[in-house]
Amino acid sequence: MIYLDNAATSWPKPPEVLKAMTDALEQAGGNPGRSGHRLSIAAARVIYDAREEVANFFGASDPLRLIFTSNSTHALNIAIKGLLKPGDKVVTSSIEHNSVMRPLRELENIGLNLHIVRCQKDGSLNVEDIAGALDRNTRLVVLNHSSNVMGTILPVAEVAEIAHRFGALLLVDASQSAGAIPVDIKALGIDLLAFTGHKNLMGPPGIGGLVIADTVDTSQIEPLICGGTGSQSELEEQPEHLPDKYESGTPNIAGVAGLQAGVHWLSERGIEAIRAYKKELLKLLLDGLRGLPGVSIYGTQDVESSTAIISFTITGKRVSDLGLRLDEEFGILSRVGLHCAPAAHRTIGTFHEGTVRLSPGIFTTVEDIQKTVQAIERLSKE
Ligand code: ALA
Repeated sequence: MIYLDNAATSWPKPPEVLKAMTDALEQAGGNPGRSGHRLSIAAARVIYDAREEVANFFGASDPLRLIFTSNSTHALNIAIKGLLKPGDKVVTSSIEHNSVMRPLRELENIGLNLHIVRCQKDGSLNVEDIAGALDRNTRLVVLNHSSNVMGTILPVAEVAEIAHRFGALLLVDASQSAGAIPVDIKALGIDLLAFTGHKNLMGPPGIGGLVIADTVDTSQIEPLICGGTGSQSELEEQPEHLPDKYESGTPNIAGVAGLQAGVHWLSERGIEAIRAYKKELLKLLLDGLRGLPGVSIYGTQDVESSTAIISFTITGKRVSDLGLRLDEEFGILSRVGLHCAPAAHRTIGTFHEGTVRLSPGIFTTVEDIQKTVQAIERLSKE
């Protein structure tokens, strides 16, 4: 089997991640912050250590400003729905995932002023187009760091600078970039960063986070859900302090431990080294697919401006058939269709059919890529 669906979720996971999860459940199986006994304290220690290491990984100065969530979608919803009010203006791009588009469209129905800046056909974004859309009424700019459809990396640092000039905050969806390329909130000027643990961070599904930079006044962000936090239990109102304001209910302790182990595993190997290896795989894939009969590749087709994600179609062939045949005849696992990002497919001209998406991971080998190119060559010549 050749697993090329790492943009959906990375697989396999490093053994260290699995071990950290079972260790947490076996040795720290209490409910953190709820009781005073040793298992509860051990669980709180797991969460505390993870919060410190993951916050540090993203360049956050205060670990308490890292909110653990279920995934990026959850983090994006806290930021978008917690911050925005009817009448606010928001600027976003035309290649966002539905985890951004759907909450924005929902708020648009109750008076949000939503401005969508069109990206180029290769998914790249002109910073001047964002600048042209901003004004003093803009509260928030929302941008994905790397497209989940064709990997295109967006110019987050440049957009941050412009957004701040207009007094707007920048929320970045780092679902595909966290763990794939360096993501430092200070270096990039990011105010709010949503990430998930189960993709390039090599953690399990069900854990992610929202990093809130100290540029953000959290009294301006309402929590998405309220409930028990283990703190200020005398109050029937939600506590204001962080991270409790946004973390109600028993946390996913095994998930948090797995996320930390994934981040630790990546940090030991170095993001730059991992990025260099994936660029090599991406180049092999691009070189192999370019020029095959009827094959169209989407995105910038430049390894420097893209993470390891490729979208392609073959003239006259349905993407669903291609995905099925890659799986059944060649053992190659891809993701086909619209990838929960219809706006991105409209932008690159592949709506409504979508594309076949290939996303190599850290465990993909050069031989896997060579076999994949041969398989697509066979399909393209039929
Ligand atoms: N958002 C994930 C993807 O792109 C699930 O496949």
